[in-house]
Amino acid sequence: MKRHLVRALVLIVVLAAGLGYLVYTGFEVFVPTLASAEGERIDQLLRLQFFLIAAIFSLVVGFALYAVFAFRRRPGDETAGPSIHGHSLLEISWTLVPLLIVLGLSAMTTRDFFWIRRPDHDLLIRVTGQQFSWIFEYPEQGIKSGELVVPEGKRIKFEIHSADVVHSFWVPEWRVKEDAVPGLTTYAYITPSREGAFKVRCAELCGAGHANMLAPVRVVSQEEFEAWVAQQKPPADPVELGKRLVEQYCVACHSLDGSKKVGPTFLGMFGRQTPLTDGTTVTVDEAYIQASIRDPKAQVVEGFQPVMPAFGPDQLSDEEVAAIVAFLKTLKE
Ligand code: CUA
Repeated sequence: MKRHLVRALVLIVVLAAGLGYLVYTGFEVFVPTLASAEGERIDQLLRLQFFLIAAIFSLVVGFALYAVFAFRRRPGDETAGPSIHGHSLLEISWTLVPLLIVLGLSAMTTRDFFWIRRPDHDLLIRVTGQQFSWIFEYPEQGIKSGELVVPEGKRIKFEIHSADVVHSFWVPEWRVKEDAVPGLTTYAYITPSREGAFKVRCAELCGAGHANMLAPVRVVSQEEFEAWVAQQKPPADPVELGKRLVEQYCVACHSLDGSKKVGPTFLGMFGRQTPLTDGTTVTVDEAYIQASIRDPKAQVVEGFQPVMPAFGPDQLSDEEVAAIVAFLKTLKE
């Protein structure tokens, strides 16, 4: 009996060591590079959980595998084997040990959750998700951008809104993920710990353009951040302003190079005669573009679905719409 136990335990230790090594190396391969202080806590918990899973899996599967080979029925052996009832020590330990593991994990998770969600921060950024783009507003700096630029090492409070349906704000390298829910303000706290380029991904299926609902992220030094803020004041030239607005709001669904996306391309669109879904034809002029921004479902171009959300004057002012028209006029084939 003792001989069997020793052999089974050796098998279990070998299995656990192998799986532990796979978890250790697999983490580097399959999990995106870590780039935030908060994410460090999350990775530690995730690693610990995977190691525990590897250990428990090895214990169960090790005994089972050993029994299958060591106690298999041999030719000519017709006995059923001894029947065993109850083992108090074993039963108490397989109840207590998992209970302690689960309680320990919840205690650690609670500790890290409150540490990640603590309210202190150096910078506030308001994030708005809408089908199918992200807008970042820096109320203390008085700027708005389609690109998320943040200083490294500063704790940022993200105040998250949605203009239409449920989206989810997620930069995988930062680990923390938070839903954008219409009618609700949600928060995420992140301290970027690595400079570089990343992407905000929408992590909630939100419609036809969900996969394109990306925004560039740049983590830079404090000096570069301040220089970027200074550059962000809106340009005086309407074509420049229009270009910036189109890049922020439109390019997820409308290409500038003639390719077909969720919506028609902007290339060569201005001045063209365009057939609509109701069978009529319209000339794409200032009035049509303005109407299509304010009430996009009224006149839909043939071959496309009426999926574009309306942009009211709080999202794009009349001057901003005029700037978009000025830029679209320059997109000639
Ligand atoms: Cu927004 Cu998916």
